[in-house]
Amino acid sequence: MEVEVARGATEAYPVDTLEDDPEGYWAAALAYYELLRERAQTATEIISLSTGEQVTLETSSLCFCTMYRDEPQHKILVLVNPQDTKTVVAVYLKESWWSIEDVLRTSDPTREGLVKEQVKILWRDGAAVGFYSIKMKGSLCGDGTSACYLLPVFDTVFVRRKNRCQGLGTAMLRDFCDTFHGDEALGISCPISAAMYKVLRQFLLTCPGERGRLWEVEAPGAWGQRVNIWLKVYLQERRLQDGVDRWGPERTQND
Ligand SMILES: CC(C)(COP(=O)(O)OP(=O)(O)OC[C@H]1O[C@@H](n2cnc3c(N)ncnc32)[C@H](O)[C@@H]1OP(=O)(O)O)[C@@H](O)C(=O)NCCC(=O)NCCS
Repeated sequence: MEVEVARGATEAYPVDTLEDDPEGYWAAALAYYELLRERAQTATEIISLSTGEQVTLETSSLCFCTMYRDEPQHKILVLVNPQDTKTVVAVYLKESWWSIEDVLRTSDPTREGLVKEQVKILWRDGAAVGFYSIKMKGSLCGDGTSACYLLPVFDTVFVRRKNRCQGLGTAMLRDFCDTFHGDEALGISCPISAAMYKVLRQFLLTCPGERGRLWEVEAPGAWGQRVNIWLKVYLQERRLQDGVDRWGPERTQND
């Protein structure tokens, strides 16, 4: 039997209609999983993804993934690629299978640009292409202590691979700086990836007014836990430059 993956062509995508009812979705997914296990004795079901790929619905390719790291009770049913079990190919939501592409789509035309409060999703042409999360000043660090962030912190940022190097990481960083334009200091969570350093370097080159405000921070962001990012970029480039100046001529002599 062939199961079509819901495409959302005539109806809304899950992101447009999901209600905040994790228990309800979990119960529905469990019931469906049990049904599949029973049906597996008599029939094989094949799922057709919107990519054209076909995957057999076997219980060995199904797994329950936790939705939030710190809330293990909230799980969703996903279908993984049988050849690469770390890759999720579809998600079971609202009694249908949805490809990953469709889970990230919206039919709501008002979703465009950066939306949401502490996690901002970047929508572009009806699809989620990136997000960033913020730790608000005064919010709990969540490390089991009562420590609170001492400044707003740009915590995680992600741009989908196919949308990278189109200025979206920079757009989110700029949005963060604009959102907290009244704050004297803004944090970027430590450790900062090499790619994000490139983004920061470019950004600070073009926005010198932000050089004194952006700090690489460890929670909760006390002065001893901050390193000025522009200074770090500058010193790193100076060190590289000094290395070239110092070793360059000697190497030439040895040649
Ligand atoms: C880091 C990340 C968010 C950057 O997003 P992006 O949309 O590609 O960034 P931008 O297009 O705004 O890049 C801005 C500048 O940085 C440069 N840059 C970005 N990523 C780079 C990379 N991997 N290598 C070299 N330069 C890079 C770009 O070339 C661009 O410079 P340009 O304007 O002169 O071309 C994205 O690569 C990502 O999601 N990475 C995986 C997650 C991650 O590392 N998150 C950061 C955790 S601290």
